[in-house]
Amino acid sequence: MKKETKIFVVYVPKGGAIKTTTVMALSQAISILKPKASILVVDADFQKNTTVTLVGKIEDNDYSTYGVITRKVDINDSIISTDNPQIDLLPASISLAGVDIELQNEIGKDFRLKEAFTKIKKDYDYIIVDTSVLMSTMVVNALTSATDLIVPARPDAFTLDGLDMLPESLNEIKQYTNPNLQLTGILIGYMNDTILARDMVTRIEEKAQEIGTKVFKSKIRTGVVVPEAQALQQSLFEYARHSKPAENYLEFAKELIGE
Ligand SMILES: Nc1ncnc2c1ncn2[C@@H]1O[C@H](COP(=O)(O)OP(=O)(O)OP(=O)(O)O)[C@@H](O)[C@H]1O
Ligand SMILES: [Mg+2]
Repeated sequence: MKKETKIFVVYVPKGGAIKTTTVMALSQAISILKPKASILVVDADFQKNTTVTLVGKIEDNDYSTYGVITRKVDINDSIISTDNPQIDLLPASISLAGVDIELQNEIGKDFRLKEAFTKIKKDYDYIIVDTSVLMSTMVVNALTSATDLIVPARPDAFTLDGLDMLPESLNEIKQYTNPNLQLTGILIGYMNDTILARDMVTRIEEKAQEIGTKVFKSKIRTGVVVPEAQALQQSLFEYARHSKPAENYLEFAKELIGE
């Protein structure tokens, strides 16, 4: 029998916090570690960074996370393939920016993505969801559908402030929409050898303990190959397989999925 589909949501209430980079690298790393696994990447951010990086600029339409959570389309008609045969994409649409107002009076609006996933879970071993910074209806949908939450963090003071905001939001999700949500761990990226970064890691580890989670052992080093690969719309592993960030993401994926 097929194992239960893991639904990893990557979220932290902080912009520019390597959410998209982590979603992309994690999906590619799992496809390398598990050549038979099928993976769905879900772009739940109106900025569409994941969509554009994976499939280039595509027409903005309802066949997207927007259409799925407003029930304008069926999720089965909205999933597209990517260059990697193991990875499919449910793209985002700019219309997500207005969805909070559009759905404000709808009952059950937080469960739409979860409902849609029940239709396609049998087709995927892993679903990996990129989110945006605000605790919007789309993000609540993502967290409601998640089995695991991964919180990315840069070792800086603003990120610590972002982590402070996390427990309150998560407690509400656990209380009202997803009692099983697991904060699986904090992934430190943008890591370097400065005293500041090491000090911040210690403080993030303390924070992790405080909120009942851990910091992943694997940490992602800073490397110019990351924005370079993104600018060329290439996978980090195609572009720089032996770079530190690529190796670190592979280690992280192993740590996460237990390979
Ligand atoms: N390990 C790294 N080394 C160097 N640059 C990195 C690394 N990881 C991410 N970056 C760069 O940091 C920037 C922000 O990363 P990313 O877009 O993944 O963050 P985000 O959390 O998705 O942002 P947003 O809140 O806008 O969605 C990008 O330009 C990316 O290329
Ligand atoms: Mg992003």
